[in-house]
Amino acid sequence: MTQAPAITTTASFPEKFVWGVATSSFQIEGAADVDGKGPSIWDDFCKQPGAIADASDGVTACDHYHRWQDDLDLIDRLGVDAYRFSVSWPRVRPGGSGAWNEKGLDFYERIVDGLLARGIKPYLTLNHWDLPSELQAKGGWTDRDTVHRFVEYAQGIDQRMGDRLASITTHNEPWVVAVLGYEQGIFAPGIKSRAAAAQASHHLLLSHGLALQALRAQGSKTRLGIVLNLSPVQSATDSAEDQAQAHLEDGKLLRWYMDPLFQGSYPADVLAYLGADAPQLQAGDLDAIRTPMDFMGVNYYSRAVISAKGPWDAKQSGLPITDMGWEVYPEGLTELLVRMHTDYPVPPLYVTENGGAFKDAVQDGQVHDADRTDYIARHIEAVAEAMRQGVRMEGYMVWSLLDNFEWASGYAKRFGIVHVDYATQKRTLKDSAIWYAAMLTARPGHRSQKVAAINAI
Ligand code: FCB
Repeated sequence: MTQAPAITTTASFPEKFVWGVATSSFQIEGAADVDGKGPSIWDDFCKQPGAIADASDGVTACDHYHRWQDDLDLIDRLGVDAYRFSVSWPRVRPGGSGAWNEKGLDFYERIVDGLLARGIKPYLTLNHWDLPSELQAKGGWTDRDTVHRFVEYAQGIDQRMGDRLASITTHNEPWVVAVLGYEQGIFAPGIKSRAAAAQASHHLLLSHGLALQALRAQGSKTRLGIVLNLSPVQSATDSAEDQAQAHLEDGKLLRWYMDPLFQGSYPADVLAYLGADAPQLQAGDLDAIRTPMDFMGVNYYSRAVISAKGPWDAKQSGLPITDMGWEVYPEGLTELLVRMHTDYPVPPLYVTENGGAFKDAVQDGQVHDADRTDYIARHIEAVAEAMRQGVRMEGYMVWSLLDNFEWASGYAKRFGIVHVDYATQKRTLKDSAIWYAAMLTARPGHRSQKVAAINAI
């Protein structure tokens, strides 16, 4: 494969713009039952026959729990300003309620302090899906009690390390938790009920709003927000059927989350579609959900094309396609960011995840992933374009630092800019990582230049 010219530079971004890489606890940590960690719904889901494409699990993953210091050094080498990671709730509070696990809290505190020592800002996510199994036994996100347990969890993390964090994200991608986890059943906890999914999504949003209120009430010093997975939803044709279906899908994916977060209501068309499956609300819920945020993150991978006739075959568009079967469509990121900014009173935005899975090969200790570099470069350009159109953007984070456990796809799909050999746990910088690092360390005043200058004296 020929190396695509990566023309992107950071020159069109403000100096304060935050460049980062992202991971999540279950996907990299391993150490599934080490040092007092309790089981999560993903530990359980991996045991269900047929749930994970390669029948793998998160027992070892990237062994980050034991290799975290080397991994932080790796992050430092990339020249990033920020590292987005998540806390495993059952590692710090094994049953989801009751006793806290000091060893688990210490682990994340060491990560935070280790990042700060290297000059990297910690962006912490509370819920990147690994809910304690004990809470699932009582209904998980369909149980209103989970909302209050989540608020306690948020308070505990903030009390312990909030003074050193750049931000706390409550939830990563509540749509994925609700729809893939409770409606389609292809992600943990593997439930297939539209009503359960609707109730779960409401409780996720409610717990977000109540957590923000509780953290502010305890004097939290960090910035608070949520991360949504969003896409522009396009109609496959001009037909009235396709357009109506696309509008409904836009409601289910985007307006179902953005409307309550910013306007205090659920969209009427989606409520009508849900009918008797609509969630049960209590007085005050919608006010809590629209509690103002300090920032918001969006994870963007591709557009959604909707046809009333059934699933859209991405191959027919003629666009490049990633190993996940997703179209490479950077224009959609600009379109989405501009739409969020135009339709809603959003706080400053981050792209908290963006990247691609491609079939990588290690050759003589190198990985020539030109397609991934090209993907990232084009999406960074799309962010710059959104900013030119007036969107307040504060940062961009690549998914992912490392190849890791890609949920129901197991280890077969590789999103890392750093390759992981799962047999040896050896990390190898792919060309995309080398390119990203070269771009970031070349910025005027980058910390690596200070080190170089000191060494030269
Ligand atoms: C997002 C998830 C992240 C990763 C990417 C590819 O939906 O937040 O954990 O799996 O997709």
